[in-house]
Amino acid sequence: MNIEQLIANYRAAGQGQVFAHWAALSEIERTALAGQAAEIDLAEVDRLNQSLVFKASGGGANLDGLAPAPCTRLPANGGDTAAWAKAKELGETALRAGRVAAFTVAGGQGTRLGYDGPKGTFAVTPLKQKTLFQVFAEKIKAAGLRYGRPLHWFIMTSHANHAETEEFFTTNRHFGLDKGRIHFFRQGRMPAVTFDGKIMLETKSSLALSPDGHGGSLRALDRSGALDLMKAEGVDTLSYFQVDNPLVRCVDAAFIGFHLGAGSEMSSKMVPKAYAEEKVGHFCLQDGRIVVVEYSDMPISMQRETNADGSLRYSAGSIAIHVIDREFARRMANGSDGLALPFHRADKKIATVDAAGRAVKPDKANGVKFEMFVFDAVPSARNSIVIETARGDDFSPVKNAEGVDSPKTCADDQLRQFARWLKGAGAAVETDATGRPRCAVEVSPLFGYDAETFTERWAALSPKPAVTDGLYLE
Ligand code: UD1
Repeated sequence: MNIEQLIANYRAAGQGQVFAHWAALSEIERTALAGQAAEIDLAEVDRLNQSLVFKASGGGANLDGLAPAPCTRLPANGGDTAAWAKAKELGETALRAGRVAAFTVAGGQGTRLGYDGPKGTFAVTPLKQKTLFQVFAEKIKAAGLRYGRPLHWFIMTSHANHAETEEFFTTNRHFGLDKGRIHFFRQGRMPAVTFDGKIMLETKSSLALSPDGHGGSLRALDRSGALDLMKAEGVDTLSYFQVDNPLVRCVDAAFIGFHLGAGSEMSSKMVPKAYAEEKVGHFCLQDGRIVVVEYSDMPISMQRETNADGSLRYSAGSIAIHVIDREFARRMANGSDGLALPFHRADKKIATVDAAGRAVKPDKANGVKFEMFVFDAVPSARNSIVIETARGDDFSPVKNAEGVDSPKTCADDQLRQFARWLKGAGAAVETDATGRPRCAVEVSPLFGYDAETFTERWAALSPKPAVTDGLYLE
């Protein structure tokens, strides 16, 4: 499309302000701005303005007829031991057949942590200070060795962190993984709009663009050719997790087995909420389908509702770990069958320029960003299931610089996990009342990545090392 036509389209859509400083721009700046403007789907922006921005309610979540979602309990909490064993076997068969790939969403901006760099490059382990990416890489490598099939690993980045992420892997020689099996691709971007629906400029020659949310991963998988690559490689199942959670079992045979056994298109893991106000999504049932209601969308009074025995009624917390069927991702991505992820509105402080082109740093929200959430795909999935996992085995994210979900709480949870494995294998470990060992130890995922693999390796060690400060098992 030529530039005159592009500008005319923007004017016709009531978005001519995007080119307000055109006359003052250099040729290079004009090309850059026109390139960004051409990326935007103006009809989509208009639909979002009508449905989310111009409505006072901002398109809040539908809470009609919500009930707690059914879920498969852990054997320790009354679940069927034989069903778990069968699921594990089924998952292991799929892993041995090379049907499963790992998938990390790492496109977020990590603003809350205050870390300036791709979040996956943040150091998290208690002793060796391994980064999030290294922890995942070692878990993925260990699973590949155990099942005799190296896994493909898909990593979604953003425009802002793509190059730096790739470079980090190159510098670290892909942590010993086959680089041909690590696939980076960028997620899409959405423009921010003012409260009256006008697309905002970040500078005179650039739009205020931001990542389209982790829900954008489904579109990005499709657009980048990742789904076709998976098909060609015989991969039909994606093990999805967020970059902020080093405790995650990157591939979990039992979870994969439950998903495959149920003929599910998208399955989820839950942990019982630690307390009513915990900031996690809730698995609920609505019109016979499983849905996830985000913490910010569920009134606090509802989050505090209890059962007769005093337990929380909406206790199934989403820890953003899913298994996704490849062709389901494709259907969701291209909107066939009328399926498409909805956008959510987030009011934010957005750096912009004033009419004279001077930079403006707002001190309160001045615009709206649009994001998609991957868990909004759950209700569209056939036979969606939710299984329980133990928090200590799957979830301790690093989100905030201090307090809950911080580097400190995450390191402590890793230490507790290592201590549990050691104790379970018969080693003497001194711990405090919370199960935290009195000395700093670390277990490489290549030594053991769950209680079972750890116990096997520990049993084979001779002589066994004393559990003292600085013990590193690799
Ligand atoms: C998220 C979930 C919440 C869940 C919790 C568990 C949302 C809205 N909520 O909360 O239901 O209980 O995690 O930890 O997601 N990301 C991208 N691209 C984006 C935005 C995010 O890749 O455009 C990735 C981030 O890199 C990160 C993850 O998605 O890995 C989570 O994003 P974040 O915005 O931090 O979600 P939370 O509010 O922590």
